[in-house]
Amino acid sequence: MEVVIAPAGRLAVLAANAIEALLRRKPDAVLGLATGSSPLRVYDELARRHVEAGLSFAQARGFMLDEYVDLPTDHHERYRNVIEREIASRVEWAPEQVSGPDGGADDLPAACEAYERAIAAAGGVDLQLLGVGTDGHIGFNEPGSSLASRTRIKTLTHQTRADNARFFGGDVDLVPRHCVTQGLGTIMAARHLVLLATGKQKAEAVHQLVEGPVSAMWPASVMQLHPHATVLVDDAAASRLQ
Ligand code: F6R
Repeated sequence: MEVVIAPAGRLAVLAANAIEALLRRKPDAVLGLATGSSPLRVYDELARRHVEAGLSFAQARGFMLDEYVDLPTDHHERYRNVIEREIASRVEWAPEQVSGPDGGADDLPAACEAYERAIAAAGGVDLQLLGVGTDGHIGFNEPGSSLASRTRIKTLTHQTRADNARFFGGDVDLVPRHCVTQGLGTIMAARHLVLLATGKQKAEAVHQLVEGPVSAMWPASVMQLHPHATVLVDDAAASRLQ
């Protein structure tokens, strides 16, 4: 595992560099997309490079990590809409090239299995962007998630719902209780994992991720077992590292 400690702006440049290098080498690469605050500067940087340096997403495929269950299709915080707004539309990425788990499906388990098949049919994820929750989740694999898990329905912890209330006008009751998420086994199958974490509130999760025992109680710690994992953190998020 490679750990880089740098200011947030620099971390976004490093993540964008990895994505740009991949796309220049393999224009039809498969990118794994995260939502939340952590990747936003990366998406800004990629949008800038698309406009100013002709970085093309035309042949690339995108697969989202997770989705809330049962948010209305036009809801501002539905992750499909967040990804469209924050990255896809800005880099002229055709909607049919970007997929997400279907949180509105009548048969959620079948939709989760179909999502796994779609990722496999695309050849697997080349580079997976990740954030980490304050409780150590990646994707929405909350503490206690099986390290071998695949895409499935999960219940969000109160901590995660409280953390994400800022996207729902500060009202935790408006944050959905359930989600569908790629499993830890699904995420670990990606060929390169790039995780970003900034701020003091992530310090314990980063400590457990990098230095803790590999444990389902700190799901991000499974990344210690990945052969190509890059962890990009600022000083505050690194403040509990030995
Ligand atoms: C989002 C996701 C989550 C977030 C995590 C951190 O698709 O899978 O694991 O990455 O909750 O969120 P932020 O970046 O908002 O602190």
